[in-house]
Amino acid sequence: MEHIAVKIANIPPDLNLNCKIYVKKGEDISFLCENVIVTPALLETFKTKAFPEDSVYITADYMRSFYDRGIDLGWTPPPPPPLEFEVLEIKPKSKPVVISEPEPEPKPPQQKPPPEPKPKPKGEPKTEFERVQQIYETAKEETRQFFADIAEADVISKDKTDEFVQEIKLKLETTDVTLILQSINGIRSVDEYLHTHSLNVAFLNGLMAKWLKFDKIKHDELVKVGLLHDIGKLKVPPEILNKPARLTKEEFAEIKKHPYHSFDMMVKSGYKEKNVLLGILQHHEKLNGTGYPCAISSVEITEFARITSIADIYDAMVARRVYKEAHSPFEILENFSKEGYSQLDINYVKLFIDCMAEELRGKTVVLSDGSIAVVKMVNVRNLMYPMVEVGGEIITTSPELHCVSMFNTNVSEAEVQNV
Ligand SMILES: [Fe+2]
Repeated sequence: MEHIAVKIANIPPDLNLNCKIYVKKGEDISFLCENVIVTPALLETFKTKAFPEDSVYITADYMRSFYDRGIDLGWTPPPPPPLEFEVLEIKPKSKPVVISEPEPEPKPPQQKPPPEPKPKPKGEPKTEFERVQQIYETAKEETRQFFADIAEADVISKDKTDEFVQEIKLKLETTDVTLILQSINGIRSVDEYLHTHSLNVAFLNGLMAKWLKFDKIKHDELVKVGLLHDIGKLKVPPEILNKPARLTKEEFAEIKKHPYHSFDMMVKSGYKEKNVLLGILQHHEKLNGTGYPCAISSVEITEFARITSIADIYDAMVARRVYKEAHSPFEILENFSKEGYSQLDINYVKLFIDCMAEELRGKTVVLSDGSIAVVKMVNVRNLMYPMVEVGGEIITTSPELHCVSMFNTNVSEAEVQNV
């Protein structure tokens, strides 16, 4: 696959870079991110990641696609092949060449009709939400492959894990949090539960690390705990793990061993970070001492384990509901605040809800009557029904008129202007 350098200075703002982006390190090309909208912050990230080069790389096909759409990335396609070659190509093979016939005058290259624009890549997102969903689906597939590799080798590659953690962090930095929240609120099948859940918990832990203003080391470690906390489930027989009926006492005891298995696999793979190992081992412990595997009391439960249980339970609650239609982040948060307080560290739950409410403020949403509104205030005591501005009026939403989803740009910009 041919990669072409794009000077970072030539990348226009607001461009939808709907392709994989790479950086060059020595002779190697390594994946950086994909499907991102260009922002000043993203360009700064590119500069840092590409240093000492001043370019990122994309594949030749996508470079051609941008060129065909009139987007100037400082690249011009190579000249077409010599015309004589094309004349020979189009001659029917079955017809003998009559040598006595005069050769047609070759057309000068500049008269050659311009190439047909390539069709847009299949599945190109039309809206920001679709773009985030595409990023999320790609990340899910990468996690599935990552876990399949771990299962096969029975070892958790530290390099691959570190690379994965950085990719997850970059996705969080360049994506609207509320759209990620809506993306993880999707139907998932039994066989994709483990890797989907692990990816979601890694995302949620990444958000918590950001809100807690953790330094880079702690931030990376917390995302790592989210990604690998349940990896020990690979050691649980699938017929128990995926059993559709109620588990027997013995089967449940088998499932409850998975934090030990996760811990054991990490240690055997050479992980030594205490934060990470204890966060993984303790993610099912409860503050009142009723958790597993050790039923330890609150003072012994580490910070990473407390945070990861919030992400773990939040995602499990989302997954427990089988959806025929999308639920708004307000509804998800409301359910979480009702059910989550009883078993989790209230300080972290409060932080999670407060920060999520803050992220939602100012965002555009769709109401149950189809109108578009802007969120003005999210009351943490009544998360389901925020105050919104619609048609120049500020109203408090209610069961009769409530938010059904985040704004999806299928609705015209003009309608948003009229809010
Ligand atoms: Fe677990």
